Amino acid sequence: MTGPAADDHHPPAGEQAAQDMLHLTQLVLAAQTLAAGVTPTLEKLVRDTAAQGSAYFQLESRDLSYRVRAATGEMPATPGMQAIAAHGLPAETPLLQALAASRQPLFFDDTRSRHETAGLPELGVASVAAAPVRASDGRLLGAFLMHTLDPHCWQPTEVALLTLVSGTVAALSGRLAAEEDARQAREAALRALGLMLEARDGETHGHTDRVTRLALRAGQALGWDPDRLEALRWGAYLHDIGKIAIPDAVLLKPGRLTEEEWVTMRSHVEAGERFARALAFLPPLALNVIQDHHEHWSGQGYPAGKQAEGISVEGRLFALCDVYDALTSERPYKRAWTHEAAVAELRAQAGQQFDPELVEVVIRAAEDRGDALLA
Ligand code: C2E
Ligand code: SIN
Ligand code: SIN
Ligand code: FE
Ligand code: FE
Repeated sequence: MTGPAADDHHPPAGEQAAQDMLHLTQLVLAAQTLAAGVTPTLEKLVRDTAAQGSAYFQLESRDLSYRVRAATGEMPATPGMQAIAAHGLPAETPLLQALAASRQPLFFDDTRSRHETAGLPELGVASVAAAPVRASDGRLLGAFLMHTLDPHCWQPTEVALLTLVSGTVAALSGRLAAEEDARQAREAALRALGLMLEARDGETHGHTDRVTRLALRAGQALGWDPDRLEALRWGAYLHDIGKIAIPDAVLLKPGRLTEEEWVTMRSHVEAGERFARALAFLPPLALNVIQDHHEHWSGQGYPAGKQAEGISVEGRLFALCDVYDALTSERPYKRAWTHEAAVAELRAQAGQQFDPELVEVVIRAAEDRGDALLA
């Protein structure tokens, strides 16, 4: 074994570069979001090349455009660039077409002289380098782009760096993007389930989205972390999913329920829990919302008759949101109450139906919405 080269504090350039890449890769692997994974890579490109700005674009399947998902450095202040920041690059953009057909990164020293970079000079981009990110089926999923504002002759070291980035980090960002796609698909599916139920329940249209937004605002006001807020959102979409198993004769009954009908109605909580458990990816905290949304602080709720802090905090907060929305909405069995009447009812039930510490949090969250609409 030979000792370290000249200086302990400055490893050889190649080793330093490898360590940098290793570090970037670790950042990407640990990243919870696409932007968090990709931004350090973009920063390195701007730091270690002549590029003044760098951005990662990713395909939005909804409208087949490539949207900016992360950017760093200097962007030309042209209207065209602002439009791209807002609406993305259409898939027909010549540079993206060229990238879709290329296995390697592409380098253009002068955007005025090549058909692949048509449109870029008008944006204020004088030279550009682009690296493709592919989905597993080979489709162009995304692109790392970096640019200079004056013509620039891309050097071998810059070519090597972007190639390395696109060969390693880009593959990882492809994985992250796939996970994000899967999460969005699940989210859409859960919301669709909630909306389907809402359609049948005769609940005022929009109950699912309204109660979800109210719960998220209240959770944010409490400083809940993103995991807990996500669980709250999923729980909110699904809280009444067990009503799918309730016959129309009970669910849509205009008048009061008989004792027997109440037994059926109350079963929606346990039925919902069974449905939710079948969704393996659902976080445990989301189950709390479904399980506990009809428990009462006093212990008089159902299905378990839990009391006070024996009820999950997700369930306690959500119950308030659900009831606020039930009160202010029309139901087959009741008319809509005013905001003021609903607030008075929540306060009257503090320490009975509801956690007294959470009542005002939800009232404030409900009033925020009013302010936002007026503003
Ligand atoms: P929902 O309509 O979504 O109501 C959700 C919850 O809002 C109710 O859960 C209850 O906790 C609360 N809530 C509704 N009205 C009032 C009220 O006047 N005061 C207070 N403090 N809270 C109120 P709950 O009672 O367990 O009912 C569960 C579901 O059973 C309701 O969901 C609804 O689908 C059905 N339901 C409840 N009461 C009746 C009724 O009289 N007739 C019919 N047909 N269905 C009913
Ligand atoms: C960029 O390099 O960040 C943007 C260049 C482009 O929009 O084509
Ligand atoms: C919504 O209710 O659609 C907003 C919640 C979300 O999907 O983030
Ligand atoms: Fe319910
Ligand atoms: Fe509800």
